[in-house]
Amino acid sequence: MATINDNYLKLKAGYLFPEIGRRVSAFAEANPDAPIIKLGIGDVTEPLPEACRSAMVTAVEDMGNRDSFKGYGPEQGYGWLREKIAAHDFQARGCDVDAGEIFISDGSKCDCGNILDIFGDNNTIAVTDPVYPVYVDTNVMAGHTGPCNDQGEYEGLTYLPINAGNNFTAQIPSQKVDLIYLCFPNNPTGAVASKSHLQDWVNYAKSHGSIILFDAAYEAFITDPEIPHSIYEIEGARDCAIEFRSFSKNAGFTGTRCALTVVPKTLMAKAADESDVELWKLWNRRQSTKFNGVSYIVQRGAEAVYSEAGQEQTKGLISFYLENAKIIREKLTAAGLQVFGGVNAPYVWVQTPNGISSWDFFDQLLNKTNVVGTPGSGFGAAGEGYFRISAFNSRANVEEAMRRITANL
Ligand code: MLT
Repeated sequence: MATINDNYLKLKAGYLFPEIGRRVSAFAEANPDAPIIKLGIGDVTEPLPEACRSAMVTAVEDMGNRDSFKGYGPEQGYGWLREKIAAHDFQARGCDVDAGEIFISDGSKCDCGNILDIFGDNNTIAVTDPVYPVYVDTNVMAGHTGPCNDQGEYEGLTYLPINAGNNFTAQIPSQKVDLIYLCFPNNPTGAVASKSHLQDWVNYAKSHGSIILFDAAYEAFITDPEIPHSIYEIEGARDCAIEFRSFSKNAGFTGTRCALTVVPKTLMAKAADESDVELWKLWNRRQSTKFNGVSYIVQRGAEAVYSEAGQEQTKGLISFYLENAKIIREKLTAAGLQVFGGVNAPYVWVQTPNGISSWDFFDQLLNKTNVVGTPGSGFGAAGEGYFRISAFNSRANVEEAMRRITANL
C-alpha cells in the first residue's frame, strides 16, 4: 500500500480557521435563528474597488478578441504589473527593489508555505509566539519539526515570545537560527515594528547568514509615518530577506487572489557543497515548474490598484476597516478590557476577562452573543488568555457585535 507523509499526523487536528468554521457551523445548525456575526478569520467584506472591477471587465473583453487574447502568462507575472508594484510599493519608499525581483502569485499564504521548497531541511527555524499558524504548520508538513507538546509547541522550532511586556516585538535570540519568520503589522497581535527593531533583525541575520521571511500582508494599514512598510526600507535587507505581500487585505482580493513575493537577486544561501546559490534562481525555477501564474484578468484588476482612482478607492477601504478597528478598541476599552493593536493593523488583540481561557471565551461569546472571534491560543501557547477580533466586517455588524459583547461581559 502507498504510504503517507507522516508529518501530517503531527499536526494539530485542524487548521485554526476551518476548526473555528466547524464549531460555528455546528452552533448554527443547533441554533438556526442565531444572528451570528463573524469577526474571526480576517476575510474582507466590502466590495472590490470600482477601478479594479472595471479593469477586470475590460480584461475579460480582451480575452474575447483574437488580437488581445492571452494564453499562459509569464510565470513571474506580467511586466506591466510588476513595474507598477516596484515603482509604487518599493521605489517610492526608497527601497532598491526591481520589477525583475517581484513574483506575482495567488496568495501570501501559499508563498509563505511554498518558499520552503527552496530551503534545506536542516535549517533552524524561529517563529514568534503567538504566530500566524501557516508558518508553523508548513514546517511541520515539511518534516522540519518533531512532535507537538501539550501546549501546542513543536519540538525543534525556536519560539520567540511576544507580549505586552516586550511591546509584541520579539527579543533577538542569542543563538543562531537560519530562517526567521516576521510579520508586521503583526497577525495576530496588530503590533508594528520600528525601523530600529527591524534593523536589529537585519544585523542579526547578516551576521549569522540567516534569512528573514518577512510577511507584509497588512502593510497598507500602517498609518504612522515612522513605521516602515517594507523590510527593504532597512539597510542591508536585500542581503537577508524575502518579502511577501498581498492584494487581499488592501484591495479586497481574498476571493479574487493576487499577491507577490520579492526575492532580491543579491540574496544567497549555501548549497551542501558550501557554495553560495542565488535564491532568486531557485524560486524562479520552483515557480516556473509548479505554478502557471495568476490569470490575466486578475492581474489587470491588481494593476488598477495603482491607478489614481484605485489608490483613492483602496485608501477608502483601509480607512473603513481601520475605523472599525477603532470602534472595537474604544468599546472594549470602555468596557474594562485590555486591548492591543488595531491602530496600524486590522486586528485587535484582547486580553480575556478574569483570566478565562481563550477557547472558553470563544464559546462564551458564541453562545451568549453569537459573535465569533479567534482564540489567541490558536496562534500559539503564548496566545493563551488572549482573543483576536478582526475589523473586517460591515460597520453595522461591528457596532452590533460591540453592543452585544459589552452588554454581556
Ligand atoms: C487570518 O484571519 O489570520 C487571515 O485571514 C488568514 C489569511 O490571510 O490567510
